[in-house]
Amino acid sequence: MKVRSDAHPALHDLEPSVDAFLAELLRGLSRRPKSIAAKFFYDEIGCQLFDEICSLDEYYLTRTEMGILREKVGEICDLFGPECRLVEFGSGSNDKTRIMLDHLHAPAAYVPVDIARENLLRCSARLAHIYPELCITPVCADFTTAFTLPDTPRPVRRTVAFFPGSTIGNLEPAEAENFLRRISLLCGAGGGLLIGVDLKKDRLTLERAYNDARGVTARFNLNLLTRINRSFGAGIRRDKFQHHAFYNEEFGRIEMRLVSLVEQTIQLNGTTFYFQEGEHIVTEHSYKYSVDEFAKLAGRSGWAVKSLWTDDAKLFSVHYLAVE
Ligand code: TRP
Repeated sequence: MKVRSDAHPALHDLEPSVDAFLAELLRGLSRRPKSIAAKFFYDEIGCQLFDEICSLDEYYLTRTEMGILREKVGEICDLFGPECRLVEFGSGSNDKTRIMLDHLHAPAAYVPVDIARENLLRCSARLAHIYPELCITPVCADFTTAFTLPDTPRPVRRTVAFFPGSTIGNLEPAEAENFLRRISLLCGAGGGLLIGVDLKKDRLTLERAYNDARGVTARFNLNLLTRINRSFGAGIRRDKFQHHAFYNEEFGRIEMRLVSLVEQTIQLNGTTFYFQEGEHIVTEHSYKYSVDEFAKLAGRSGWAVKSLWTDDAKLFSVHYLAVE
């Protein structure tokens, strides 16, 4: 008999403190150019806006990746084998996870790792309701820092990391290499990594994906200022900043910025930051790779490419890597 449980799966809580958030903000705003790490986008409103981005016409990434996953899920789950523990980094609203969960062979556990605590709890509870047999052990953590995995009560034959959404592109290449190496150690011998990587392509397609006509991406970018105001009573004027995103071909990355429309100062916890008119804060880079560039990066970080899938138009790639 199936036992349904509506209880929240127990949370492994390593949420970064508000003090750590502030310290990182102050450091970022003291750099030239000023910067704020992309992980701070994801408060409650940020998570909602991001889901909206993922369903935009211009944002081809999500639907293309989900198309590849749906088509190849049988093959992918055979590669994972039975009793795998699936650890997802930046699990968000679990749309891609569900494609996998519907086909995994007797999974030992699903471990969603996300920095957005409330969203993680809500989405894990929803998933527990849909998959009552599945052992779900959510971890609230900043996955760019070292963290431990919770114990899994069932035997684990293989730990497979799942890193979709081209989130790897949001790390600087040197950080991406370190992150992938850390994940290879976390997964251990026999471990695997299923990772989605956005591919280099024409400028127009890339730039449209980060400048949607309805302005959702602009609202998402500007929400960062609202979040800072709410967390620290900063009083930053949202209307004095503007969203700007463009493809920097030399570096192979989308650069997302908040541009100051006027000369101004902002106050954060007693520190004053001065902006010239037109000066910007870097809020995100989104690196685009060729299939070969990504395979080389993976090779440098302790992984071997086992399988590679793309859509027909070669917009997006999904790689299955094995620990060397
Ligand atoms: N991993 C996503 C990407 O690089 C994240 C993302 C998409 C994003 N659109 C965004 C982040 C807009 C900030 C703003 O494509």
